Amino acid sequence: MAAGSAWSGGLYVVLVLWIVTVTCSAEPGRRQISMQLYPSSHSTPQAGDLLHVRAVGDNDTLHFLFCSQGAPTLLLIHTSSTSSEVQVNWPEFVARNTSGSLKVEPESSLMYSSAVVFSRLLEYDDVNDTAEPTSDLFPPYDLQNFTWNPINLSEPMALLCGTDASFTNGSLCLQLSVFDSEGRGEAWPHLLHSVNSSQLEVWLDGIPARATQSRFLLEMHAVGEAYPLSTVDVYQSIDDEYTPSIFKVSQWVSSVNGSPDVLGYALWKPVAYRQARPALEDATPCRHSVPRAQSGSMVTASSGLIRGFFSDPKSMALNVSFGLAGEPFYNVTRFLSWTLLVGVGSPPVDSFSPLVVAIMAVGLGIPMIILLVGGIWLCIRKSKGASSASYEPIN
Ligand SMILES: *[C@@H]1O[C@H](CO)[C@@H](O)[C@H](O)[C@H]1NC(C)=O
Ligand SMILES: *[C@@H]1O[C@H](CO)[C@@H](O)[C@H](O)[C@H]1NC(C)=O
Ligand SMILES: *[C@@H]1O[C@H](CO)[C@@H](O)[C@H](O)[C@H]1NC(C)=O
Ligand SMILES: *[C@@H]1O[C@H](CO)[C@@H](O)[C@H](O)[C@H]1NC(C)=O
Ligand SMILES: *[C@@H]1O[C@H](CO)[C@@H](O)[C@H](O)[C@H]1NC(C)=O
Ligand SMILES: *[C@@H]1O[C@H](CO)[C@@H](O)[C@H](O)[C@H]1NC(C)=O
Ligand SMILES: *[C@@H]1O[C@H](CO)[C@@H](O)[C@H](O)[C@H]1NC(C)=O
Ligand SMILES: *[C@@H]1O[C@H](CO)[C@@H](O)[C@H](O)[C@H]1NC(C)=O
Ligand SMILES: *[C@@H]1O[C@H](CO)[C@@H](O)[C@H](O)[C@H]1NC(C)=O
Repeated sequence: MAAGSAWSGGLYVVLVLWIVTVTCSAEPGRRQISMQLYPSSHSTPQAGDLLHVRAVGDNDTLHFLFCSQGAPTLLLIHTSSTSSEVQVNWPEFVARNTSGSLKVEPESSLMYSSAVVFSRLLEYDDVNDTAEPTSDLFPPYDLQNFTWNPINLSEPMALLCGTDASFTNGSLCLQLSVFDSEGRGEAWPHLLHSVNSSQLEVWLDGIPARATQSRFLLEMHAVGEAYPLSTVDVYQSIDDEYTPSIFKVSQWVSSVNGSPDVLGYALWKPVAYRQARPALEDATPCRHSVPRAQSGSMVTASSGLIRGFFSDPKSMALNVSFGLAGEPFYNVTRFLSWTLLVGVGSPPVDSFSPLVVAIMAVGLGIPMIILLVGGIWLCIRKSKGASSASYEPIN
């Protein structure tokens, strides 16, 4: 009896501790989000838009800058002050011939900056269904030459869509989401995000394929003053209801040579979806190439934001290719969407979801209860048997 109550008392304490940790860990570290769109209506039509998102934390500020001047670019600036400002000299920024047209004040508050540039969309004719983009490449689409619509702001999201002059139909779109608290994306693959990350969903909707068996690649550049994202680590992840049947997560990380501390990251699950409202069978695997160092001047020329902020950028680039051999071609649905997370500090790590925990609890709990009940029943039977045995001779 005493042992039993001690045991249940212990369980109760553990439960209370768990509830306290869960409720308390949800609160601190929220960020206050505010968005500002730089006017482009009164400047030249090709100037492009610049969105500035301030995410103010307890002790720091994250500035997200998203720009369609040239190739679409997302720049993250992490500062150690809650009052840091981003200053933009708009005429200089639009002229795109000097660095320093966009800067952080005070300069001493700058801790880390990193950018991702979506440079090219590549298409190849996969005649033999090998999904190897070695030959039969069509002329690539240079995203800096797209016509970008004005950024459509619906807080806390921003939508940017653009078209190539050769498109008869369709567009390439990027949707940026920023977060004031930890959570998961609404759509598949439901990536886990923290307050230190932003999410970019990229999709191709209805753009004309140049061959019946076309497949696509997306080329991205990571840019930084000193340590751009360099290596991609692929980890096992948990297969749960958030991203069924996907067991991996890829993390393109930046770190100071040899140090295990991650300064910033881009993270994705190797899956794309072939429908805007996908079912499980619309998932298609994707792969990435090994990041390669690129000349900083190339990416500086293609992106207004890189030109305006970095003075001597270093750049790494990789391709993400959509579809494997045997997977349906783009032409079948004429839609592809892919999601990545871009953030500072350590990437958020998936833990077992409540559903998986519940299943494990039931899976482990029921046998335990059966064992317990069975044990008790055996005990009772034994003692009954023993008592009846001891009474028998008297009767
Ligand atoms: C914020 O900064 C203050 C003063 O520098 C420091 O005392 C405090 O511990 C910091 N809080 C957090 C959550 O880092
Ligand atoms: C940048 O371009 C503007 C307008 O085209 C020009 O007036 C200015 O002199 C240029 N600045 C530099 C540093 O080239
Ligand atoms: C496709 O297969 C044919 C026959 O095996 C071969 O001749 C051709 O070179 C292949 N094409 C590509 C692009 O690999
Ligand atoms: C895109 O524009 C740049 C600069 O005007 C030019 O050098 C490049 O050739 C263009 N790319 C394509 C694919 O047209
Ligand atoms: C802007 O986005 C909202 C919400 O996604 C949408 O309802 C609206 O039609 C969009 N506006 C334009 C001009 O695309
Ligand atoms: C463009 O899209 C519309 C609607 O999806 C479709 O009816 C039309 O045939 C398409 N045009 C071309 C040239 O593909
Ligand atoms: C976000 O970044 C801040 C500043 O580096 C750090 O204190 C905090 O722990 C981070 N939060 C998460 C959830 O990673
Ligand atoms: C696939 O693309 C080719 C060439 O662009 C086109 O003629 C054909 O109608 C497309 N097929 C489907 C199923 O959309
Ligand atoms: C992306 O793929 C294309 C086509 O295979 C190739 O020319 C290009 O160099 C690749 N980019 C990177 C960064 O590997």
